[in-house]
Amino acid sequence: MIKVGLISLGCAKNLVDSEIMVGHLHKAGMQMTADTAKADVVIVNTCSFLNSAKEESIQTILEAHEERGMRKRRKEQKLIVAGCMSQRFSKDLPGALPEVDAFIGLDQVTKVATVIEELYEKERNTLEAVPNLVDERSVYIPDYDTPRFRLTPRHLAYVKIAEGCNHPCSFCIIPKIRGQHRSRTIESVVREARQLVAEGVREINLISQDTTYFGMDRWEKRPNPRSPVDSSRGDSLTMLLRELEKIEGDFWIRILYTHPAHWSPELIETIASSRKVARYVDMPLQHISDHMLGAMKRETSSAYIRTLVRDMRAGIPGLALRTTFIVGFPGETEEDQAELLDFIRETRFDRLGVFEYSQEEGTRAAKLENQTPARVKKRRWHEAMRLQREIAAEVSAASVGRQLRVLVESTGVARGEADAPDIDGRVYVSASLPVGEFADVTITGHAGYDLLAGVEAPEADAFRDLQPAQ
Ligand code: F3S
Repeated sequence: MIKVGLISLGCAKNLVDSEIMVGHLHKAGMQMTADTAKADVVIVNTCSFLNSAKEESIQTILEAHEERGMRKRRKEQKLIVAGCMSQRFSKDLPGALPEVDAFIGLDQVTKVATVIEELYEKERNTLEAVPNLVDERSVYIPDYDTPRFRLTPRHLAYVKIAEGCNHPCSFCIIPKIRGQHRSRTIESVVREARQLVAEGVREINLISQDTTYFGMDRWEKRPNPRSPVDSSRGDSLTMLLRELEKIEGDFWIRILYTHPAHWSPELIETIASSRKVARYVDMPLQHISDHMLGAMKRETSSAYIRTLVRDMRAGIPGLALRTTFIVGFPGETEEDQAELLDFIRETRFDRLGVFEYSQEEGTRAAKLENQTPARVKKRRWHEAMRLQREIAAEVSAASVGRQLRVLVESTGVARGEADAPDIDGRVYVSASLPVGEFADVTITGHAGYDLLAGVEAPEADAFRDLQPAQ
């Protein structure tokens, strides 16, 4: 029996692709191993979003190759490279990395077992060149019955509701990698969600490049990002949420990766009236100055974003708002940075990530001449993060003494509605609670971005003497 090891890099979208590969390998009778040293085949599922992710991917591939060279019994081990880097550099990688036995693209995740079988049929040294099986354009989208083996804990799942992206953001390479936006049907997503809930999943994380664009690719006329979303024109995220709400059971639905351009009053109302959709919104804004939003081609304006944030907070009581900003985009001035810092200070985001702009080959922004020097990017990043650390500590302090419903991740570790898996903070509970189930706790303190909690009244809690981290 062929043993396969898989290293999954990058985001949750890539993780779902890894899960689909594992599902197909199982179906073909192959065995997975967590120990790559014992594998006959190692697959590296790569990320290529930023230069740092590319470097990590190449490093991982070279380490996997080196490792098989060091183990006599593993000299015959095959090395397959999959994922976003493989897709993005499909023409150059086979020449640059001759150590690799085959490259597969995003649309070959369901064919990975066949690729392995073929590699075994033809001996590597009889092949004229490294097989490059990457299609030029990615068009694949999974369905509810696509074989998949979940790599997340039993109580948690990612559901890819769409793939690809139609936005023109000038800093981002993802549309070129993952192709045009294509949505699944509502029925397909609901069938998958129903099955997951039946298997004991307590948190369904809806993902795609832009979850708010769900269904719109099938609308007759392409939606204008400047006009209000009108879901009477076809499937929309609002309609999907209403259908998911009908699934019986105790579970959370979390919406990740929304785009500000496609929010609507209807979506705000749907979340506000739902018993299952988490009061948590992930909405990357990237900047707030009109100068930068225009240069980034974000299809939004400063006034629009400010109104939207106000409407979301007013319409969804208790909402935890997460966003990300990019500092040091080409041409960003000190005035732009000051406007961004003021906006962070005024808005007090519950969760915030800040990234230094990365000049990515193949993007429009990479060709701009007025690139920001590295030391300026770093300084602006520190300014924004310092400010957010203070705000985050105040937001956490305000929750001390409150009751919170959490999902228990492991012994002593849980997560509230306001914290997405692998992105946000955790709630450390001074009591042993059943893993994978919901529990009610009382917040007793905070440490950095995390909360401390107990199941008793705050004064009886074991964490009571701990001081918040600086
Ligand atoms: Fe995700 Fe990296 Fe691809 S962030 S979509 S794995 S480029």
